[in-house]
Amino acid sequence: MGSRRDNALMARERTIYSCIECGGTSPKWLGRCPGCGAWNTLEETIPEPVPAGRNRIQPLARTQPVATLAEIEAAEIAHRPTGLQELDRVLGGGIVDGAVVLIGGDPGIGKSTLLLQAAESLSRSITVLYVTGEESAAQVALRARRLGLAGRQVRVLAEIQLERIIATLEAEQPRFCVIDSIQTLYSDQLTSAPGSVAQVRECAAHLTRSAKASGTAIVLVGHVTKEGALAGPRVLEHMVDTVLYFEGDTHSSFRLVRAVKNRFGAVNEIGVFAMTEHGLKGVTNPSAIFLSTHGEPVPGSCVLVTLEGTRPLLVEVQALVDGGGPSPRRLSVGLERDRLAMLLAVLHRHANIASFDQDVFVNAVGGVHISEPAADLAVLLAIQSSLRGKALPRGFFAFGEVGLAGEVRPAPRGQERLKEAAKLGFAVAIVPRANAPKRPIEGLRIHAVERIEQAIDLVRDL
Ligand code: TYD
Ligand code: MG
Repeated sequence: MGSRRDNALMARERTIYSCIECGGTSPKWLGRCPGCGAWNTLEETIPEPVPAGRNRIQPLARTQPVATLAEIEAAEIAHRPTGLQELDRVLGGGIVDGAVVLIGGDPGIGKSTLLLQAAESLSRSITVLYVTGEESAAQVALRARRLGLAGRQVRVLAEIQLERIIATLEAEQPRFCVIDSIQTLYSDQLTSAPGSVAQVRECAAHLTRSAKASGTAIVLVGHVTKEGALAGPRVLEHMVDTVLYFEGDTHSSFRLVRAVKNRFGAVNEIGVFAMTEHGLKGVTNPSAIFLSTHGEPVPGSCVLVTLEGTRPLLVEVQALVDGGGPSPRRLSVGLERDRLAMLLAVLHRHANIASFDQDVFVNAVGGVHISEPAADLAVLLAIQSSLRGKALPRGFFAFGEVGLAGEVRPAPRGQERLKEAAKLGFAVAIVPRANAPKRPIEGLRIHAVERIEQAIDLVRDL
């Protein structure tokens, strides 16, 4: 018996390798995480000792009563508006008691600014606590002054130790609490460094339990790695109720907040903000901005709605068709070249548009890579637009897969794509027949097609 326990103790002290992305572990170092497939994410860690008996199910635990779904009282979830309309939109109406929201984004994008503004506005109706681990209380106060916030009721705690934060939460009983950021927290119970997967996961788990027990709504701020995942643990995404991403180009003042998971509302909602010198201002009509960046419509350009993971994304596809030599070139950036050759053959055979004596260049603007076939229709429309030297109409977009027989096949989640484009102010579309909405979408004129020649005929008259 004794020697077996010694062995177990020794085994515990061996180091393991855990993935900073997904939290998966491996006994030896590997270039690629066996859990999530990410490269170079395994780091040497010391496994946390498991408290004696924690992993054992106690055979004498008392059984608990079980109810049917029908017997359980299901109350409607009450959303409390934060006062920032664009934030409320992505939250599904506002914050929910006991719910935990994770908000991720690049450093400097404006997470702290947004949450300080929300905290100020909520503090007029409920008790609010702002826990800052990255900045001192004085820095937060300075920011509040710059933003012109009175801050009379926003209580601030500069603390990074989890146990003290939990104790303060219990004593203060705020209804809304911001943790800025989850990566700075550490728990005394663990030996690993702050920011490590084990720490982040454990701290988030404790805070989640505390939120559920006390009914406090908690917002966790999280950093994003260069690959775009929430640093540390994707496990956090499973733990919390809502995951928001705060994105935008730091060179422009516009910021997007997206819900990628929401137990209390719809996902793929976006909120649009402009960063001004007095903080973030909601942009209620984002279409104007996104369209003006396109300028005047030009020949050879077509906008498509693609699905990046779970998020619909509007991407401009450009084509240039120009007189080529004896062996014309087909070049594509961000799109598959084989697919381009195939699409040109379809265009020739089924729509009678020949380009075999022309150089064809295709580019997905902004350095994105589109691998889904739903881009086909937009690529073909951009090519024909360049060939004819005639621009597609303002606010036009298209999506749909094109088959070798010239048929236009539906794209998955067509309704979400249409809604996203409508939200961003696009007005005319050619889409596959099966993706045509049953009820009209406000502000959107949709032409449904079944074949590529129909689409080509249609754009001639638009
Ligand atoms: P911040 O909220 O600190 O970003 P995060 O918490 O996501 O790291 O935002 C910092 C940036 O926002 C910084 O570059 C300055 C800019 N900013 C403004 O332009 N106007 C303002 O009123 C404030 C407070 C910040
Ligand atoms: Mg910050």
